[in-house]
Amino acid sequence: MIKKLIGTIALSLTCAVSFAAESGYSLEKAPERINDMAALQNGAKLFVNYCLGCHSANSMRYNRLTDIGLTDEQIKRNLLFTSDKVGDLMHIAMRREDATKWFGAAPPDLSVIARAKSINLGPTGVDYIYTFLRTYHRDTSRPVGWDNMVFPSVGMPNVLWQLQGERGMERTVIAQAEQADGSLQWQRTVSKYDAQGFSEITTEALQGYTGSASDKVRFIPADAKASANFDNQVADLANFLGWMAEPVQLERKRLGVWVLLFLFLFFGVAWRLNAVYWKDIK
Ligand code: HEC
Repeated sequence: MIKKLIGTIALSLTCAVSFAAESGYSLEKAPERINDMAALQNGAKLFVNYCLGCHSANSMRYNRLTDIGLTDEQIKRNLLFTSDKVGDLMHIAMRREDATKWFGAAPPDLSVIARAKSINLGPTGVDYIYTFLRTYHRDTSRPVGWDNMVFPSVGMPNVLWQLQGERGMERTVIAQAEQADGSLQWQRTVSKYDAQGFSEITTEALQGYTGSASDKVRFIPADAKASANFDNQVADLANFLGWMAEPVQLERKRLGVWVLLFLFLFFGVAWRLNAVYWKDIK
């Protein structure tokens, strides 16, 4: 019984550790900015400017953004594009049928996407979004001219590409391939994509290779500074989506500290009372 339990726990732990995205691409840890109001406000701005065109956030009211330090006036002036009242929900005008026709898949509502994409004991949904939005690369062999490492053949275009700037990518895969005579041979395949998405693929046999299989991706930005700045912006956006998926988390954490403090003090009082009550009974 105990053995079985330990086995189950171990199994779920290894799953969590080895689990990357469905594509196998390992997710990067997003910088944690859930308590950083300026970052969340910037994330909100990016969200309404770049995402709300296709994605709704039907559980979110604009005036909830006052929780991250914006005033009604600021919301009205800077963030209201799809509606005219701060009390409105973040609906969009695009119809699901049209979206499916245009992109091959309907853009999901993003209200709780950060929770939907989180993996128990593994990377959070914020990590997922952070990695997903930063792993687009140009690929001329795809109909839309882009592909994504976390979500291969994704229907969503790379809407942030102008912020990120041009970049190439190099992917090195070491794997075993079956030969004509049925034997297995280790091979290294390097795929180089230039900034326009043209690729050059070279494969070489690895004689006497004793290592294991691997898959490494390296992005090569034309402008390293622009690329670092982009990562920073995406971190704000991903954290905003993390906040939106659970807006009460700030309140919950703030309250949690007081609750723990109270329990701690109460424990002291109970301890002393206990000693007093039992003092004469011995
Ligand atoms: C031009 C329309 C469009 C815009 C703008 C857009 N998306 Fe998407 N998005 C889509 C579509 C379509 C899908 C569904 C893709 C699929 O299932 O192949 C999608 C899917 C997603 C997913 C789910 C991916 C998954 O693994 O299931 C996330 C997260 C996402 N979008 C985030 C964003 C964010 C953040 C922005 C703003 C920076 C944004 N999107 C802007 C069209 C859009």
